[in-house]
Amino acid sequence: MSKLWGGRFSKATDTLVDDFNSSIRFDARMYAQDIEGSMAHAEMLGRQGIIPEADAALIVKTLGEIKTDIENGKVEFEIDAEDIHMNIETILISRIGDVGKRLHTGRSRNDQVALDVRMYLRHEVDELLPLLEELKASILTIAEANLDTIMPGYTHLQKAQPITLAHHLMAYYEMLRRDCDRLHDCRRRINVMPLGSGALAGTTYPLDREFVAKKLGFDSVTVNSLDGVSDRDFVCELAFDLSVIMMHLSRLSEEIILWSSHEFSFIELDDAYSTGSSIMPQKKNPDVAELVRGKTGRVYGSLMGLLTMMKGLPLAYNKDMQEDKEQIFDAIDTVKMCLPVFSKMLLTMRVKRDNMLRGAKGGFTNATDVADYLVKHGLPFRDAHAVVGKMVAYCIENGKVIDDLSMEEFKKFSDLIEDDIYNEISLETCVNQRKLIGGPAYDTVKHIIDSYKLK
Ligand code: ARG
Repeated sequence: MSKLWGGRFSKATDTLVDDFNSSIRFDARMYAQDIEGSMAHAEMLGRQGIIPEADAALIVKTLGEIKTDIENGKVEFEIDAEDIHMNIETILISRIGDVGKRLHTGRSRNDQVALDVRMYLRHEVDELLPLLEELKASILTIAEANLDTIMPGYTHLQKAQPITLAHHLMAYYEMLRRDCDRLHDCRRRINVMPLGSGALAGTTYPLDREFVAKKLGFDSVTVNSLDGVSDRDFVCELAFDLSVIMMHLSRLSEEIILWSSHEFSFIELDDAYSTGSSIMPQKKNPDVAELVRGKTGRVYGSLMGLLTMMKGLPLAYNKDMQEDKEQIFDAIDTVKMCLPVFSKMLLTMRVKRDNMLRGAKGGFTNATDVADYLVKHGLPFRDAHAVVGKMVAYCIENGKVIDDLSMEEFKKFSDLIEDDIYNEISLETCVNQRKLIGGPAYDTVKHIIDSYKLK
């Protein structure tokens, strides 16, 4: 097939080069954006009198038909037409001849691809946001049902202080809130219209860039033509935002995996969200959580790939940048696949409240509260810390927890301790007296949940 750019060439491209150069395999997915962008460009060319209005109208109409044909599987893309942009232009020309040849006036594939990628990513961000909202809603539902489910909170994966499952899960809710914020923010930088940047230096045609921007739903236009064609910051930024989402999912995945182990036994995943072993009949594996944790690596890989691909590129467009697509598409596809299944896995898991409570009872999770008790009775905190340290050592030696100590035993450590100690260091008190903003107390967490439900 002769190339749209073949004029100055006397030889056909080697088929090896055709295959190597071609991006149609992965950029075909931007066909709708490419066509929509071309329609706006053609309409603008007609309005500006750059091409005859009738030609513009025929181009727009034919592009619409091509779109329908693509959607009905009636179009075969050609490897040697290189990419989605030239495939569609080639089809257009094959249908309306010379009129079709007017479409690319005042435009380069460099600004065209920048436009298409921005439109595609904007669309994908708009699909990602509801999936994140769905996960947030699932977390809110489980948290609300577990406002009084006491569990051990950890630092260093060692039992630290009692909290509730609601409080623990709401930490993830906060992360996801920031993830949504980041996507909204990234969308603002995606949503700038680059068409009119031309190959790198704009064009002499009187293009109405603002018209095209408005038509295509952009907030503004790029104001430097070199930047317009060579900026892929928004792609890297989205890959980063997706990486952080995966980082969050993988942390919760890790906890789900730990919690469903025999050793923790805090939760049981639903049969529909677990898998068995081909050899060990007893097994029930948290594959969904493991895969989400594993796929985090490939999303990070996309981010690193994109940053490295862009590193050191001279202005303006370089073909290296064609490599942005597979990376960001894969990252998006991965996150879009992970979010719904992760959401359902959480919603269907069974919480073993008794085991969580038992877990919180061991490991001296109320030791800080014993020290605080002494502080409230006048002892400086450092001294109280030392007293309780001795108490813990005594308990370990005697196979007890602090709550088991008799008043006589307590008195050996401090005569400030009275009968009310038992109530003051119960797990319920430990949790529910932490009612400052951000604390795990029932009322505090409920208040936060209620406020998010109103939004
Ligand atoms: N397929 C190319 C890409 O994805 C489109 C732009 C190509 N421009 C060029 N002059 N080779 O980046």
